[in-house]
Amino acid sequence: MASARGHWGNRTGFVLAAAGSAVGLGNIWAFPYMTGQNGGGLFVLVYLACVAGIGLPIMMAEIFIGRTTQTSPVGAFRKLSRPGSAWMGVGWLGVVAAFIILSFYSVIAGWSLHYVWLSITSTFADQTPVEIASIFEQVRTDPALSSLWHVIFMAITIAIVIAGVQSGIETWSRILMPALFIILGILLVYAMVKGNFAQGVKFLFAPNLDNFSWNSVPAAMGLAFFSLSLGMGALITYGSYLKTDDDLVSTSITVSVLDTSVALLAGLILFPIIFAVGQETDQGPGLVFTTIPIAFAEIPGGLVLAPLFFLLLTFTALTSAISLLEVATAYFIDERGWTRTKATLATGGAIMMIGIPSAISGGSRLFGAGVQKLTDPLYAGPGKNWFDVLVDLSFNLMLPIGGLGIAMFVAWRVDDAAREAGFSAGSKMGRLYWGWLSLLRYVVPVAIVMVLLNALGVFEMLFGGGEAQ
Ligand code: TRP
Repeated sequence: MASARGHWGNRTGFVLAAAGSAVGLGNIWAFPYMTGQNGGGLFVLVYLACVAGIGLPIMMAEIFIGRTTQTSPVGAFRKLSRPGSAWMGVGWLGVVAAFIILSFYSVIAGWSLHYVWLSITSTFADQTPVEIASIFEQVRTDPALSSLWHVIFMAITIAIVIAGVQSGIETWSRILMPALFIILGILLVYAMVKGNFAQGVKFLFAPNLDNFSWNSVPAAMGLAFFSLSLGMGALITYGSYLKTDDDLVSTSITVSVLDTSVALLAGLILFPIIFAVGQETDQGPGLVFTTIPIAFAEIPGGLVLAPLFFLLLTFTALTSAISLLEVATAYFIDERGWTRTKATLATGGAIMMIGIPSAISGGSRLFGAGVQKLTDPLYAGPGKNWFDVLVDLSFNLMLPIGGLGIAMFVAWRVDDAAREAGFSAGSKMGRLYWGWLSLLRYVVPVAIVMVLLNALGVFEMLFGGGEAQ
C-alpha cells in the first residue's frame, strides 16, 4: 500500500510538522500551570535538564526507528527485530496511547475553541475576576458543552488527517506554525509592556524551593515527554515519512529547541500578566482559562488579544492532535491495508466516542466515582475523575514506559552498525553518536526507572511518607 503512505515535501516540511506535533497544549496550557504549581525556577531547570538529557536522545531514537523502517510503530519494531517479537508491544502501546491521549486532549482543545467564541462575543468584558473564574467552572462541568466542542475539534482534526501527509498535515503546519510565532510575538510585547515582566522573569528563572517537592521531578519528566511528543511513536510515524538520508540529528535539535522556546515564551507571557493582575500562580489546570481572560478584561487592549490568544492555543492543539490521530491512522493503513479515508474516519470516530467520558466527567460525579475506585490505589488521589485519571496515566506511566522501551530497543537491540550508520546519515554531527548512545544506554533507562518506581510509590514505602511527599 505504498500509495496510501506518503512523504514530506522537504525537510522543512518535516521540521514544521514535528514542531507542530511537539508544540501544543503541553507548552501553553500544561507548562505554565505545572511550573506555577511547582514553584517556578527550579522546576524549569529540572524540566530543561529532562528535555536535553532524556527527551532529545529519545526523540533521535524515535526518528531513527521511523526513518530507517519507513513504517509506523508496530511494523517498525517488527522490521528491526523479528515478526512476533515482544518489542512490537512498544508499538502497540503507542497505538493505544494515541487513542487515550487524544481522547482527553481534544476535550481541552475544545474548551479552547469555545473560549475563542466566548472572547469574540465579549463574554469577559466588564466581569469581575471571580465571575470570569466561574465561567471556566461552568464550561468544565457542563457535559453537553464540553462534548459539543470536543466533537467539533475532533471533526476538524479528522478532516486534516484525511487530506494526508503532504496536502493535509504539512500544508496546515506550514500555515499554522508561522501564525503561532506571530501571535506569540504580539503577546510577548503585550506582556512586557503591560505585565509585571521583571517579577515574571524572576519567577520563571530564579531557582526557588517553595512548592518544589520530590514529586516535582517526575512531573517535570512526564511533562517533557508530553511536550516533545515522545514515548508513543508519534515521531516514529512522522519520521517514517522522511527520506532515509534526511539529517536526524539537527532536525531533532531544532524541534526540541523550538518546543522549549515556546514553553518558555508561554511562561514569559503568562506570569508577568498573572502578577500584574494579582492572580495566584498555583491554580492548576484552569490557569490559562481563568488568568488570560481576567488579565485581558482588566488591562487595556486585552479584549482584542483574548481571542487571539485562544486562537493560538487552538492552533497549537490542532497540529498536535493531528500527530496523535496520525499514529492511530497509520497503523491501520500500514498494517491492515486500509485506505487513508477509512482509517482516519474509523480511528477518529472511535476517539470522538472515547473522549465523551472525559468531556462529561467534569460534571458527572457518578462516572468519576466509579472509575476512581478502580484506579485509586495506583495513581489517582482523592477527587480525581476520569479525565484526571487519563491525564495522569499518560503523563506518569504510558509515555515514560513507551520512552523506556524505545530507548532500550535502539540502544541494546538494534544492530550496532545499522544504528551508527543511521544516526550519521546525511548529518554533519555524526560525532555526537557516542554521546547519544551513552545517554540512551545508561542515563535514560536509569532516570525513567527511578521515576516509574516513584510513581508506583516504591520510594515512599522504603523511606517513609515524609520524604517523598
Ligand atoms: N506534544 C503535544 C503538546 O505538547 C501533545 C502531543 C502530540 C503528544 N503528539 C503527542 C504527546 C505524542 C505525547 C505523544 O501538547
